[in-house]
Amino acid sequence: MKGLSLNFAVLSTAIMLYMCQATTHLHPLILIPGSGGNQLEARLTAEYKPSNWFCNRWYPLKKETDGWFRLWFDPSIILSPFTKCFADRMMLYYDLDIDDYKNAPGVETRVPNFGSIESLLYLDPHLKHITAYMEPLVKSLEKIGYVEGESLFGAPYDFRYGLAAEGHPSAVGSNFLNDFKHLVENASTLNGGKPVVLLSHSLGGLFVLQLLNRNSISWRQKYVKHFIALSAPWGGTVQQMLTFASGNTLGVPLANPLIVRNEQRSSESNLWLLPSPKVFSQKNKPLVIAQNASYSAYDIAQFFEDIGSPERVYPYKSRILPLVLQNFVAPEVPITCIIGSGVETPDALFYGECGFDEQPEVVYGDGDGTVNMVSLLALEMEWGDNRNQTLKVIKVPGVSHTSILQDGQALEHIVGEINCINSEVSPLFVFSSQ
Ligand SMILES: *[C@@H]1O[C@H](CO)[C@@H](O)[C@H](O)[C@H]1NC(C)=O
Ligand SMILES: *[C@@H]1O[C@H](CO)[C@@H](O)[C@H](O)[C@H]1NC(C)=O
Ligand SMILES: *[C@@H]1O[C@H](CO)[C@@H](O)[C@H](O)[C@H]1NC(C)=O
Repeated sequence: MKGLSLNFAVLSTAIMLYMCQATTHLHPLILIPGSGGNQLEARLTAEYKPSNWFCNRWYPLKKETDGWFRLWFDPSIILSPFTKCFADRMMLYYDLDIDDYKNAPGVETRVPNFGSIESLLYLDPHLKHITAYMEPLVKSLEKIGYVEGESLFGAPYDFRYGLAAEGHPSAVGSNFLNDFKHLVENASTLNGGKPVVLLSHSLGGLFVLQLLNRNSISWRQKYVKHFIALSAPWGGTVQQMLTFASGNTLGVPLANPLIVRNEQRSSESNLWLLPSPKVFSQKNKPLVIAQNASYSAYDIAQFFEDIGSPERVYPYKSRILPLVLQNFVAPEVPITCIIGSGVETPDALFYGECGFDEQPEVVYGDGDGTVNMVSLLALEMEWGDNRNQTLKVIKVPGVSHTSILQDGQALEHIVGEINCINSEVSPLFVFSSQ
């Protein structure tokens, strides 16, 4: 406890939160981004068939000599002829023969700079101001002594792909978990064997929980000090049903979300983020209300049929549903969830006469603007009584799903938590002394 304990008792809670001093004893830290949170590169092969003249091989003009170019994020996709090219190239296909997802024919993809934070600072390094992602968080980490490549690492991945239930291959997602595992080991070795802190945003948290539970308890205890999950959608979101039904512009100023709807429907990780019946477990609570039917989290397969996307039913039922219906297995690595709250979040969607091509009327509830509160708090619900699992939840009122990476108060909470972890003062001890 390094002699700090006496002082704590006389200080107010607010100060105690940030009381752990910055220290030079740093556990290495790995950042895991959310969906769309890192760059992706593509290259077109001879098999590539453009869907129209604009999407020909010349687009985009700027490529490396070996043909690689940045697929995500490229600002030209906001111009509508190119939005379609982008969507065609981002599309995934489920292949029944191999029971796995793959890229569009003729499109090779890769994630640049695995291991480094380089491709998750900005989505487009030429447009730093408008595409900054983890850059403000990284600045805060550098202030307490973290150094890129020495104590600070990044695990970017192809966020279109997910993971599947046991017995189903998921080549891209499993390769990522394998590289990620080696990165954890390397980061620890580089730092004298200190176990690492994993800091995820959004979808990244779901991958981290799988990484932990797919490795042995002795591996976890040796290599992982703590897992901090920011804005993790443990049980999916109602908003994801909107994305599947009507498309979602993801904050990019696209004229028409229907242009990207097919691409968004094709993504495997998007299936993973649909509301899980385990978490949205009130059977009679409709999440989507349409003219002729309503759908709870138990009715996702019917929902796919009715929105005109029946080809999702099989992969959803076979690969995704058994994965999300599993009990959340406690990895017995200490976890802190930091979440936004009190931001209007889609809770139910009402579709009128025009069906699913129109944007719905939305009824809002509590959450972080994207993820519903019930999903943000799912681990707490699940593990509240599990004495083997240390879990702490920090709510930051008024902070949204992505502003948690930029908001001053949220960053203070994140850095405060990391300082506590590094100074080995148990956060539980700090709280119990108030
Ligand atoms: C881990 O370190 C080894 C040996 O230096 C290197 O070959 C490998 O590429 C590294 N892997 C990762 C994921 O960092
Ligand atoms: C609802 O059902 C009626 C009668 O079957 C049909 O005419 C109508 O097109 C349906 N509406 C929608 C939005 O699917
Ligand atoms: C906690 O750990 C003990 C000892 O390993 C085990 O027997 C017990 O079943 C665990 N409890 C839970 C809720 O997982």
